[in-house]
Amino acid sequence: MSGKNVTEVRLADAEGIARAARILESGGLVAVPTETVYGLAARADSAEAVARIYAAKGRPDFNPLIVHVRGLEQAAQYAEFSLMARALAEAHWPGPLTLVLPRRKEAPVSDLVTAGLPSLAIRVPDHPVALQLLYAVGRPVAAPSANRSGKVSPTTAEHVEAEFGNRLAMILDGGPTRVGLESTVLDLTGERAVLLRPGGITRETLEASLGEIDVATPDQPDSPKSPGMLLSHYAPRLPVRLTCDDPQPGEALLAFGPDVPEGFAEVFNLSPTGTLVEAAANLFAALRALDNPEFSGIAVMPIPPQGIGLAILDRLRRAAAPR
Ligand code: TXA
Ligand code: MG
Repeated sequence: MSGKNVTEVRLADAEGIARAARILESGGLVAVPTETVYGLAARADSAEAVARIYAAKGRPDFNPLIVHVRGLEQAAQYAEFSLMARALAEAHWPGPLTLVLPRRKEAPVSDLVTAGLPSLAIRVPDHPVALQLLYAVGRPVAAPSANRSGKVSPTTAEHVEAEFGNRLAMILDGGPTRVGLESTVLDLTGERAVLLRPGGITRETLEASLGEIDVATPDQPDSPKSPGMLLSHYAPRLPVRLTCDDPQPGEALLAFGPDVPEGFAEVFNLSPTGTLVEAAANLFAALRALDNPEFSGIAVMPIPPQGIGLAILDRLRRAAAPR
């Protein structure tokens, strides 16, 4: 039973999904697997439900949420699609691409979701559990990553449980997530497309159809375009160093590829074969595993700056940023 001392962790079968849908309809919070990371879901049309997300995450309320919908048709009821937006949605949805679009004024979405902005971030998740839930609920669901604000995103139901203890009505367990990093966030509200957050769909893929795109720089707190791009984010408790020269006493190593330097207290290899997609899928679980007080810090081997490697480096830079 939910609402007692323990969060209900349920296998994401038909019954579990039906129950999660009822909890969402009644304004509760449910953690849901997507192809990227687990999301902390609530009805997007209920200010009360959305306020619970901000409270549970400890998230500043100037940082808006992504609205999840079951398809392009539903999305078009909430946001205005240019031809370019429509083409991108058709090419990449369901999938790890979030589009920031002009919000339809009459769309029933709580202002808390958009943090009062005239834009709306929206995507269709590529995960059978998330999609079945969206069909069952029949309305859009707001869902940030299911971690406490500023911490490492969750890629398993266990991670979510460790973050929130008994604060959620229910966690739907759909196993480890496939992509392992959040969706790419692309702002299409201006003249030119702006990449707000690198993620599951690579910059190269987007540029193949759009030509060169602008990239937002992190930590411009005044910029209403990228309210969520705080430099310190994805932060484990231990200090993170983006270099693996001269191991420090007691330091753990986040490795990549076959040639692993010696002298570290512990090694977690993101991909012994040097495959970026595999490394992305393992990144957040690795940061959690190495974030153990028996180590003095986490050193990181170089990651190639291409493809999803750019998203990995973005997360690691934020994990290493001054707090
Ligand atoms: O993969 C994902 O996108 C996951 C899964 C659960 O879907 N969700 C996720 O949500 O990563 P969250 O809240 O952790 O990150 C959403 C990002 C934030 O950086 C936020 O600032 C940005 O999207 N965002 C949301 N609405 C926006 C808007 N209207 N304009 C600009 N950025 C926006
Ligand atoms: Mg997040």
